[in-house]
Amino acid sequence: MKIFLDTANLESIKKFNDMGLLDGITTNPSLMSKEGGNPKDAMEEITKIIQGDVSLEVVSTDYSGMLEEGKRLREYGDNVVVKVPMTPDGLKACKSFSSQGIPVNVTLIFSANQALLAAKSGAKYVSPFIGRLDDIGQDGMNLIKEIKEIFSNYTFETQILVASVRHPLHVIDAAKIGADVVTLPPGVLDKMLQHPLTKIGLDNFLADWEKLKQKNPDTKI
Ligand code: E4P
Repeated sequence: MKIFLDTANLESIKKFNDMGLLDGITTNPSLMSKEGGNPKDAMEEITKIIQGDVSLEVVSTDYSGMLEEGKRLREYGDNVVVKVPMTPDGLKACKSFSSQGIPVNVTLIFSANQALLAAKSGAKYVSPFIGRLDDIGQDGMNLIKEIKEIFSNYTFETQILVASVRHPLHVIDAAKIGADVVTLPPGVLDKMLQHPLTKIGLDNFLADWEKLKQKNPDTKI
């Protein structure tokens, strides 16, 4: 399963990329706005740092506006995936970009039917938002199971990109189902790195080493 980071925060992107964990990045207008800087600079930097796919989202809601914005977004790099909303105009733009060989991520997917239609339009990625479904009392992970089952019946090349991930258990469940990608907020990836027994174990190793050093002051590794 590929791991994308769901952020426009350069510090987090560099941090996890240096660990070799990132296969790509997803952003959206809210994530850009959260960083507060000039989005142009952020998009330039992100597409330089990351070799893999970087989803940059259009903000136009009409077909021609999406086409213009998508073309401009692609100027940031060949690794840019144009992110369009799951709307009739979004799917029309998806079809147009896909037929030109430009990869598309269809976002704001909340049903298996929407995922099916986005795949038919040629999307490289569909982004079902599981956390937002959980928030309204619907089982987000069940949607991933449904999409996986439907896609496996056919020959779509569309990848399931699990979005709106809220905690590490979502990641385990997505991996068990066989989702292609999860996009993670930095906080979730941080939690996945940690285990209390790892910290306790390391503290004990270092304390024992200190004892040994007291008896053998010249000891060095
Ligand atoms: C995905 O591409 C979206 O940017 C993101 O996962 C949305 O997550 P949220 O529901 O936490 O805003």
